Amino acid sequence: MTENEYPRSIRSFVTRSGRITDAQQRALEQLWPKYGIEFQSAPLDLAATFGRTAPRVAEIGFGNGENLTALAAAHGDRDFLGIEVHRSGVGRAMLAAEEQRLINIRLVCHDAVEVLEHQIPLQSLDEVLLLFPDPWPKKRHHKRRLVQSPFVELVAARLTPSGLFRLATDWQPYAEHMLEVLSACPQLQNLSADRTFVPRPEERVPTRFEKRGERLGHGVWDLCFRRV
Ligand SMILES: C[S@@+](CC[C@H](N)C(=O)[O-])C[C@H]1O[C@@H](n2cnc3c(N)ncnc32)[C@H](O)[C@@H]1O
Repeated sequence: MTENEYPRSIRSFVTRSGRITDAQQRALEQLWPKYGIEFQSAPLDLAATFGRTAPRVAEIGFGNGENLTALAAAHGDRDFLGIEVHRSGVGRAMLAAEEQRLINIRLVCHDAVEVLEHQIPLQSLDEVLLLFPDPWPKKRHHKRRLVQSPFVELVAARLTPSGLFRLATDWQPYAEHMLEVLSACPQLQNLSADRTFVPRPEERVPTRFEKRGERLGHGVWDLCFRRV
């Protein structure tokens, strides 16, 4: 895997080299050819990538991949594409995939905005997950939040008709911002009965940031929108 460059000026993440354990480094070297997809600015042939055509789920900013690998293990009939910028998380997710002998998971280590824009074909994903994205709580940082109209439109256009966009956050002002931005997207319909939030999906494995939010006494807000 090569180190990536990020030409966008305002990013939803800060590039930090982070600590990478020996096991994660070995995973990055040895397992990348099996699970990794290099970023390139041409649309991927997802059926060829996974070696079949099956319902596809993408998780953006999967962190350490707890939820992504658990879902892949629980749903062998679906394919899972993880997109994450931090190499240590990608290393961890590959180790977990290898331990569980998962064959239905592939990872891209690059800015999800660019991956969606250039690499993911239109109407190719049945579900997109965005769980506990960085809330960037300070007002001057709000422009770094992933959930903005152009990003939501990128996601919506890559969903199949009736495909789902599921989001969760433990930061109430971000939850309200998500609700506002997603509700304003004409390609998406809120599946919440009262047009606000939905119950926590039972199948989600608590992620590192979900647990952190719990420890801090935060609530959790879940959203689920369907591509119309
Ligand atoms: C607050 S963490 C949450 C991680 C995980 N979803 C969880 O719940 O534990 C946000 C994650 O999103 C990743 N991220 C932020 N912006 C991203 C982007 N543009 N493309 C890919 N990953 C991104 C970060 O590297 C980080 O791992």
